[in-house]
Amino acid sequence: MKVLSLMGSPRKEGNSAFASSRVIEFFKKEGYETEEFYISNMKIAGCIACEKCRKEGRCVIKDDFPGLLDKIQESDIFVITAPIYFGRVPGTVKNFIDRCYSLFDDSYKSKIKPGKRCLFITVSHAPAEAFSEEVNYLEKWFVDFMKFKSAEKIAIGKCAAPGDLEVRKEDLNKIDKACKKLAGIE
Ligand SMILES: Cc1cc2nc3c(=O)[nH]c(=O)nc-3n(C[C@H](O)[C@H](O)[C@H](O)COP(=O)(O)O)c2cc1C
Repeated sequence: MKVLSLMGSPRKEGNSAFASSRVIEFFKKEGYETEEFYISNMKIAGCIACEKCRKEGRCVIKDDFPGLLDKIQESDIFVITAPIYFGRVPGTVKNFIDRCYSLFDDSYKSKIKPGKRCLFITVSHAPAEAFSEEVNYLEKWFVDFMKFKSAEKIAIGKCAAPGDLEVRKEDLNKIDKACKKLAGIE
């Protein structure tokens, strides 16, 4: 079983990276294969609407996206952890989502392999309620549209500086609980 985590913050010691490391540690202990990528440090251009994915069956832009999509297809659990920037996930994460257009054929049938589950975690300075819609947005497009099987969602607030999340027991418990649910333990 494989877990793939994409981290949307450029801060390697930041809160969303810490959330991802907690998830990865959990699944490693459970015997899963795991991989993490700082996508904000990768080359993921915006979709250029060339529609060539319709004919070629995959995105033709030669950057880091096609390899990541292959890794998603190989994984059982797909994780995005991201900060909130101006009320939304950062631009690299949005570029990644837009490029998932290449997952669809002409009749908008998703080519995602069945049964994949997701975990979406956002971290903001403002209280969690202020941006809880963003994890719903991710669920809507990955589950309802791209046809991932299901999603666990956690909006974390009141975290600004790197290290803030590390002492937030309640939020860490939420992460652990979501991991257990995804692993079928709870
Ligand atoms: C460019 C930028 C925009 C931000 N916009 C918001 C925002 O709209 N709302 C908010 O609550 N926090 C905002 N923040 C704060 C971050 O969401 C917060 O510091 C978060 O913990 C960063 O996550 P990280 O440690 O994983 O990088 C912003 C930070 C940056 C750098």
